[in-house]
Amino acid sequence: MISVQVGDITRLEVDAIVNAANNSLLGGGGVDGAIHRAAGPGLREECENVGGCPTGEARATGGHGLTAKIVIHAVGPVWSGGSRGESGLLESCYRHCLELALEKGVRTIAFPAISTGAYGFPKSEAARIALTTMRAYESSFTEIIACCFSEEDAEIYRRARDEVVGN
Ligand code: APR
Repeated sequence: MISVQVGDITRLEVDAIVNAANNSLLGGGGVDGAIHRAAGPGLREECENVGGCPTGEARATGGHGLTAKIVIHAVGPVWSGGSRGESGLLESCYRHCLELALEKGVRTIAFPAISTGAYGFPKSEAARIALTTMRAYESSFTEIIACCFSEEDAEIYRRARDEVVGN
């Protein structure tokens, strides 16, 4: 099942939450900052041993102080106008997260709207990419949650889900 929810991803009781991280994996603002604050210093310590992550890929760590057992750190593309492979890199992010989650036996997973904040990716296109990729993996999970931080974003993700499901 794919669901769209509004809320703080750090509070969701799921097997894994996805972090919208940067290449260093050493924390930042936005949802990255929220996840590191909620998880505690052990998360950054573990991330320091991961050695970074290329754009379009993901790395898994423990959840530390979070309810979620696993954090999957995904590095989305910075939007540069759309002619530098940004859409393909965002799709790769979602796919890497879902493949990694399958490897770890994850059954419930929540995603933030990767790249749509500081990285400036247009929300509607990001939502279409997210929901299309989630749909391809839907039968392998009990629930995939698109966790939006505002009702406005959730509306965009619901429309994208309806379009994808309708296809
Ligand atoms: N729960 C769910 N979603 C959240 C939360 C939260 N607690 N906080 C922020 N968001 C949402 C934002 O509203 C946005 O829709 O997460 C989405 C992604 O925005 P960013 O966190 O800015 O991530 P991104 O655009 O991928 O930029 C990543 O920002 O924080 C730095 O270290 C990070 O360099 C990296 C860059």
